[in-house]
Amino acid sequence: MASQPSYRPLQASAFFPDGRASRPLLPGTVSRRNHLADLPHLDSGRLTDLDTSRSAPLLGLALGTTAARLPEGNALKNYYSTFPFEVTLKDLKRGRERYNIYCSVCHDRLGTGNGMIVQRGFTKPPSFLTDDSRGLKYQGVTVPLQDVPVGYIFEVITRGYGAMPDHAAQIPPRDRWLIVAYVRALQTSVVPFSDLPPEEQKRLEKQRPSSGGSGQ
Ligand code: HEC
Repeated sequence: MASQPSYRPLQASAFFPDGRASRPLLPGTVSRRNHLADLPHLDSGRLTDLDTSRSAPLLGLALGTTAARLPEGNALKNYYSTFPFEVTLKDLKRGRERYNIYCSVCHDRLGTGNGMIVQRGFTKPPSFLTDDSRGLKYQGVTVPLQDVPVGYIFEVITRGYGAMPDHAAQIPPRDRWLIVAYVRALQTSVVPFSDLPPEEQKRLEKQRPSSGGSGQ
């Protein structure tokens, strides 16, 4: 085994006349990453001082968190609680399609965290419907994933979190927001069993299969 000689970025080198190991970019080189730098809300779920963009509601509903009422220093304040553009029903359907392609393999189609890859042994993600955010707990806030700001979900998709890989390269920003919208729709479409009226609980108990389902 031999170690191949290699340079770290911007290291000095005696080989090139300008003394730099990193070569200058060719004229006309196009950045793959920062072309959205003037649209901070679209490109990042995190609030920046530079942002002047207007935010739009999801299907006209205010589904964000109450960030304004949070105390200073609360990690939730760092994230957008609104979408960077108006999300229509057609958009939401695309979000569902993208979610089913990219996320359901681990998170399953309902978002309970029991996708096929998990059933084959991958780390089980939290349920979008009933569990607290692990990442925000790490930042000092205990909050159910149902209540996290939409910008936080966007950031998790963009950068990954813990055992979850990032999806920035395979999903363009607009589609990432549409997936977030669909995750929100999943989260708001499910009512906890205990919140159902007693007669409804009884009716559903009767229908429940005796052995556990797969959650798919
Ligand atoms: C390869 C499996 C995998 C895929 C694909 C995947 N996730 Fe995850 N996701 C995970 C795992 C595992 C965790 C928990 C990570 C941990 O706790 O270390 C997680 C956590 C999360 C969380 C919660 C973070 C927190 O603070 O607790 C969100 C939100 C999330 N994923 C959204 C998505 C969305 C949306 C997609 C699709 C774009 C997606 N994930 C695709 C495996 C996956």
